[in-house]
Amino acid sequence: MFQQRALVRPPSPRLAEGLLTHLERVPVDAQLATRQWADYRSALHDNGWETLLAPAADECPDGVFIEDTMVVYGDLAVITRPGAVSRRLELPGAELAIRTLGYRTARITDPGTLDGGDVLKHDRTVWVGIGGRTNTAGADQLARLLAPLGARVVPVTLTKVLHLKSAATALPDGTVLGHPDFVDDPAVFPHFLAVPEPEGAHVVSLNDGRLLISAAAPRTTEQLAALGYTMVPVDISEFEKLEGCVTCLSVRLRGV
Ligand code: GLY
Repeated sequence: MFQQRALVRPPSPRLAEGLLTHLERVPVDAQLATRQWADYRSALHDNGWETLLAPAADECPDGVFIEDTMVVYGDLAVITRPGAVSRRLELPGAELAIRTLGYRTARITDPGTLDGGDVLKHDRTVWVGIGGRTNTAGADQLARLLAPLGARVVPVTLTKVLHLKSAATALPDGTVLGHPDFVDDPAVFPHFLAVPEPEGAHVVSLNDGRLLISAAAPRTTEQLAALGYTMVPVDISEFEKLEGCVTCLSVRLRGV
C-alpha cells in the first residue's frame, strides 16, 4: 500500500545534451542513466511512494528533471516558467499529468521566471532561490499564488549552483542541510546543518525517518544516520553530470 505519490518522467534519448551552468561537460552513459532512473523509481516505490509517469518529452534533454516544471502546494500546482527558454517545452506534458491527478493549476507568467528546483518548502515556509534561473518577479508571483494557502515565500540569494535545492534541502524537522561552499548565506535558514559533500546537500524525505540521498555522499550518509535517519542511497552519477540531484528527478505530492 502506498502512502504518497510522486510524478516522474523517463530520461530523453537526448539526455546527454542537457544544459550545464556550473559544471564542465563530460560524457553521459545513456544506458547507465536509464538503469539509474529505474533504480531511483524503485527506491521511491520501495519506500511507500507510488510513482506516476508524466508523458515522455523525448525532444527535451532536461525533461527527466521534472521537478523544475511545477511547484505543488496543497491542492494547487503552480506551473513554472523555466529560466532556460529551451526547457519551457517540458511544461505541457507535465501540466497534463498533474491536472489529470485532479490538482488546480496556475501559471508563472512573463516577466517572471521560476524553476521548481529553486523552491524549497518546509511546512508554511517556502524559500525561493533568486539566481540564474528564477527571478524576483517569479518569486513574487509564487508568493501571491501561495499566500491564500497560508504559505510565506522567503527569497534567498543563489549564485554558486544551478538551483537552490542543488545547495540545500530540508530534513523532516525543518533543519536545512547544505554545503557551506554553495549556500550564499546559511543564516537565512533558522536551523542550518553543514554537510561535508556537495552531493549530500540534497535529500528527499521519504517516510518514517527515511532519507533518499546520492550514493556520492557517503560521509553525509554517515552523518545523517548518526542522527537516527535511515538512509536510502541511490547512484545518480549520470544525472549529477548534468547538475541533477535526487530532488529534481521527481515531484513529490505531499499535500504541502
Ligand atoms: N541540466 C539541468 C538544467 O540545467 O536545468
